[in-house]
Amino acid sequence: MEGIKFCFLFFIFFGEMVSMMEAHIAHYDEFWLKQAEAAKNAAQSEYHPRPVEVINQLNHEVRLSVKGRNSTRRPLNKYNGPCTATNPIDQCWRCDRDWAKNRQKLADCARGFGRNATGGKGGKIYVVTESTDEDMVNPKPGTLRHAVIQPEPLWIIFEHDMTIKLSQELIMTGDKTIDGRGAQVHIAGGAGLTLQFVKNIIIHSIKVHDIKSASGGMIRDSTSHFGMRTQSDGDGISLLGATNVWIDHVSMWNCQDGLIDLVECCTAVTISNCHFTHHNDVLLFGASDTYTQDELMQVTIVFTHFGKGLVQRMPRMRFGFAHILNNDYTHWLMYPIDGSSHPTILCQGNRFVAPADRNAKEVTKRTESPESEWKKWVWKSDGDLLSNGAFFIPSGDPGNQFPTTEEIISPQPGSSVSSLTKFAGYLNCVENSPC
Ligand SMILES: *[C@@H]1O[C@H](CO)[C@@H](O)[C@H](O)[C@H]1NC(C)=O
Ligand SMILES: *[C@@H]1O[C@H](CO)[C@@H](O)[C@H](O)[C@H]1NC(C)=O
Repeated sequence: MEGIKFCFLFFIFFGEMVSMMEAHIAHYDEFWLKQAEAAKNAAQSEYHPRPVEVINQLNHEVRLSVKGRNSTRRPLNKYNGPCTATNPIDQCWRCDRDWAKNRQKLADCARGFGRNATGGKGGKIYVVTESTDEDMVNPKPGTLRHAVIQPEPLWIIFEHDMTIKLSQELIMTGDKTIDGRGAQVHIAGGAGLTLQFVKNIIIHSIKVHDIKSASGGMIRDSTSHFGMRTQSDGDGISLLGATNVWIDHVSMWNCQDGLIDLVECCTAVTISNCHFTHHNDVLLFGASDTYTQDELMQVTIVFTHFGKGLVQRMPRMRFGFAHILNNDYTHWLMYPIDGSSHPTILCQGNRFVAPADRNAKEVTKRTESPESEWKKWVWKSDGDLLSNGAFFIPSGDPGNQFPTTEEIISPQPGSSVSSLTKFAGYLNCVENSPC
């Protein structure tokens, strides 16, 4: 009995130690303990018990949007003049020439597992006027760092084009939208964005690149608290225990660690319309094979272009569930889809164009697991367009390809992907004109 108890305690302790190392919090004070606890509860309550409902809704909308675009009759979603939005997320807002007056309309446009993300909806507009990032403890009003630590919902926009070189990781509070439309906003050359134990964030239409590890130190994380941080990893956007997050139309390249990392039970996340290039380890969903709570992870990747100069991990996933729908994988050097610890991966209607290298034609890779083990994991390819010799090795009991008895709607096929992802990445929106 004592032995079991000891084992159990040890396990908890070990788990917590891993957390602390990954969280870059030098000291878990009362503030962070509370945040971490709230994040755990949020992940549990945001976990969708019927993922098929979310998957089918999105597939249905994509198919309707393509059909609507092709029909000679006026489609239901209005597009006037030159607007060429090609997928249901974009059609939700891009054709409005008054988008700059109706910025918060975007908050109704999330789809997939992150569809409840509303960011700073209902809050004030905060205009970032300065690109500097000097004081980590008392950030200057008008800077991005000052905007993201405020306690209330905020819709953050930029007065003019700017490159923000973050001196240390940018620690965001919840209920925020970072909306780069109307300006060229680069977050580059310094530290990256950190979404730690927070809820409800939208990041839209910015470029994040050349992010480097930063030394850490005293950093303010909210108006009521600051604390000591250890060295950051150099990820572009790092999500840790974050829920209801939507990353849309973000261009990212060449960061020191990952482009986007989801660790410690992030869930209800959508990555859409992004454009990723020139990077090795692209997306990491789950960092540890012992962190079983990552079973709660539910992520949608949709309308994203995995482009030039990418190597591997699009994503690399542990535990959890990923719906990978209608993305364009045009470049990889090793393989795009990788996992361990029995993640569930549903690839639908993507295009996978294999590189010339004869040893890199396989789309899938199972890391450090014998076939007897991985053949039980549910990895499914449905409607994917596999070209230039690309092949996908599915797994899972063929009689039960997916952990549900409900039917999954077939996707818009991979042949539509070049149109669906045509505007992937940062958007150059001009006021008084459809974007
Ligand atoms: C749309 O119309 C074009 C031209 O008629 C046709 O080639 C294409 O297959 C149609 N696409 C869909 C998705 O129906
Ligand atoms: C979104 O919110 C609704 C209403 O609270 C909830 O039923 C649903 O599970 C949430 N998550 C998703 C992915 O829809």
